[in-house]
Amino acid sequence: MNEKIYRDDDVDLGVLQGKTLAVLGFGIQGRAQAANARDSGCTVIVGVRPASQSASRRDAEKEGFPVLDYGEATAAADVILVELADPAQPSAYRDHIAPNLRSGQTLVFCHGFNVLYGAITPPRDINTVLFVPNAPGAFVREKYLQGEGIYGCVSVDHDATGDALEIALAVSKAVGSTRAGVVNLTFQQETEGDNFEEQILYGGVIHLMRLCFQTMVDNGYPPSFAYAKSIRSLRSVIDVMDEHGIEDYLTGRSSRTCEFAVRTRGPRVINDEAVRQIFDETQRGIFARDWMQEWSLGMPQVHRLRRTAAESEMERTGREWRTEFGV
Ligand SMILES: NC(=O)c1ccc[n+]([C@@H]2O[C@H](COP(=O)([O-])OP(=O)(O)OC[C@H]3O[C@@H](n4cnc5c(N)ncnc54)[C@H](OP(=O)(O)O)[C@@H]3O)[C@@H](O)[C@H]2O)c1
Repeated sequence: MNEKIYRDDDVDLGVLQGKTLAVLGFGIQGRAQAANARDSGCTVIVGVRPASQSASRRDAEKEGFPVLDYGEATAAADVILVELADPAQPSAYRDHIAPNLRSGQTLVFCHGFNVLYGAITPPRDINTVLFVPNAPGAFVREKYLQGEGIYGCVSVDHDATGDALEIALAVSKAVGSTRAGVVNLTFQQETEGDNFEEQILYGGVIHLMRLCFQTMVDNGYPPSFAYAKSIRSLRSVIDVMDEHGIEDYLTGRSSRTCEFAVRTRGPRVINDEAVRQIFDETQRGIFARDWMQEWSLGMPQVHRLRRTAAESEMERTGREWRTEFGV
């Protein structure tokens, strides 16, 4: 790897000294990043929706953060971490964040989507940067408390003050990611890479698990056995592959039958052309267009698909399976 990997010693937390960090949104990422940054010695305030709408205002208060509305928190901060659900960001930006921005502040996004696709265009006298830890928030917090961190990326879309990269890196250090290593990407790479992974990997694997279950059940296998084969067996090997490498797992830690099956049948299961087509569609903004349209219509497709999936035999079996055999 010839890319620069930023670690704790490469990054100066001092650029955040005397600055206030506002974490807007106290959800999956906001909660973890606010807690980690505070434990790293930063001054952190939290911005949430009004009490009547906010699911998390009380949590933030209970955890001892000064809690303000989005606009007030923006005005009071030097560095603003936008940790709102992505589709909610454009209207929150327009109504509360933008009117309270002042020259020299830094906006830190946790996903490049809204900036890349033009739903948010910060003014030129504001730094626009990105910091993303590559894990769900609970894991970001858990690792930090263990003295470890989560691999992450930073990016600078616009440098107004001359030290935008240093600020993004300092935020990544405060959250704990430079303990593991942080790399520099573009907003485009982070956004499209993330959206591609969600479609291909999560989308593909979940569909495969469901198809594996359904095919076995349709052919008369007991649902509990089909469920164990479709999910639990995957869970037990994924960490091994991550920790030791796929080849080490295949040649040294799986059976020869499994190795033969993987090497000869796996490629038949995946439609490589569809994967490349989805990559191309993602790069041309087609996924972003479809998702923004779906959100603006109130997510009709997602609601319909959720209902079908929740009532499926596999979900029912899963609930019983966990009771019978444990989690
Ligand atoms: N989830 C992850 O693991 C993960 C990983 C990497 C990057 N990211 C990025 O991190 C950012 C935050 O994502 P998240 O997953 O942490 O978000 P989230 O938990 O789904 O939502 C964060 C907050 O958004 C607020 N919000 C404001 N208006 C909303 C609306 N109309 N609908 C729903 N929520 C609304 C909610 O505030 P109230 O609590 O006040 O209601 C909520 O606490 C995103 O840019 C995301 O792409 C997330």
